[in-house]
Amino acid sequence: MAEIDHTLFEARRDRLMAELGAAAAVIPAAALTTHHADCEWPFRQDSDFFYLTGFDEPDAVALLLPHRPEGERFVLFVQPKDPAAEVWTGFRWGTEGAVEHYGAEIAHPLDQLSEKLPQYLAGAEAIAFRIGRHPAVEPLVLSAWGRQLDQFARTGTAALGLVAPTPILHRLRLRKEPHELDRLREACRISAEAHELARSITQPGMRESEVQAAIEAHFRARGARGPAYGSIVAGGDNACVLHYTANTAPLQDGDLLLIDAGCSLEDYYNGDITRTFPVNGRFTAEQRDLYSLVLEAQESAVDMVQPGGTAEEVHATALRVLVEGLVELGLLVGEVDGLIERGDYRHLYMHRTGHWLGLDVHDVGAYRLGEQPATLEPGMVLTVEPGLYISERLKVPEGQPEIDDRWKGIGIRIEDDVAVTAEGHDVLTASALKAVDAMERC
Ligand code: GLY
Ligand code: MN
Ligand code: MN
Repeated sequence: MAEIDHTLFEARRDRLMAELGAAAAVIPAAALTTHHADCEWPFRQDSDFFYLTGFDEPDAVALLLPHRPEGERFVLFVQPKDPAAEVWTGFRWGTEGAVEHYGAEIAHPLDQLSEKLPQYLAGAEAIAFRIGRHPAVEPLVLSAWGRQLDQFARTGTAALGLVAPTPILHRLRLRKEPHELDRLREACRISAEAHELARSITQPGMRESEVQAAIEAHFRARGARGPAYGSIVAGGDNACVLHYTANTAPLQDGDLLLIDAGCSLEDYYNGDITRTFPVNGRFTAEQRDLYSLVLEAQESAVDMVQPGGTAEEVHATALRVLVEGLVELGLLVGEVDGLIERGDYRHLYMHRTGHWLGLDVHDVGAYRLGEQPATLEPGMVLTVEPGLYISERLKVPEGQPEIDDRWKGIGIRIEDDVAVTAEGHDVLTASALKAVDAMERC
């Protein structure tokens, strides 16, 4: 794992506390979740908690207490050292480790949270806690606040309310620090290598699962945790199912293979790449026409990633190129503005063109501020992923042509991860090739 510089986390906590004013924040870690019987899913830390602490164990709670004196502002509740438990589930840092390695000013065993929370929250003007997400911790927060209100007649102080830390915290997370951009670049590099590997081994007759296995083996071999999300390895018509993750079908000569896969690093930064190429190394005429169109739409949309631009413009650009091209190919009829306004393309392109990327694959941060689309700024990272999906699943809108059989079963998406820079943008996934010729082999 990359050496963690704990001053990074301290600086983030300081920024959050500065914005929260005199509100005390309660930020819980993720809990382990049951897979079946007494088996658990691999642990995945809560991204807000990780962003603020770097601490990667379940069942912990961070308190950020700007109303307390220096030396008592960052308190961690963690699972205590317990050799008998650690024999079964592995190493824990314990309270001493939380102080020495994670910069906690004070640390307690988690089972003392209920008893100690009221005293730590006393004197805060408000309590910053995300309601509805942390069922084990929420009753403790509400009870501590209730107790303050009960005692108001005697103490004369109580938090005025509960506020959400997430709008502020997610605004911070949306703008990546240089360290975060380095980590995203690394996740994208490993993810791109896996896509290049997948294209080099794909042959008719292989199963989708074999290609998936090679991709995910590469992630692990390069030290990543594994896939950032369920890898989509979809041959032919399976590619028209947007969240296809069964990955069980044999790959057919003459079909395309769509692969949407990216790795998650030890510190949770993610890659998210889609590439589509012919299973047998040669596009058919229809596949080539549609691939060239999606590529043109994707490259035009990537060009729109600029400081001062908006994700809305990125989407609108991709959409216009796609709709113009579909009219030229005869898959849509009519005037482009009207087709876009009425949504008469949605049986062929039914999703948005991208999302923020970071510690979460669909990362946090607002896309709109009321009516106003969020402005792109240096440090923001987003995916650009237009596609076309030609199948019989959705009804053709009235007035649009029925789809000729020669187009059916073609699903194409091209997805890159793009950082906004001061000068324009940087395609973090550029080492995964996407030019038409690069997708073919002789
Ligand atoms: N792989 C998830 C997405 O592209 O949004
Ligand atoms: Mn993707
Ligand atoms: Mn994506």
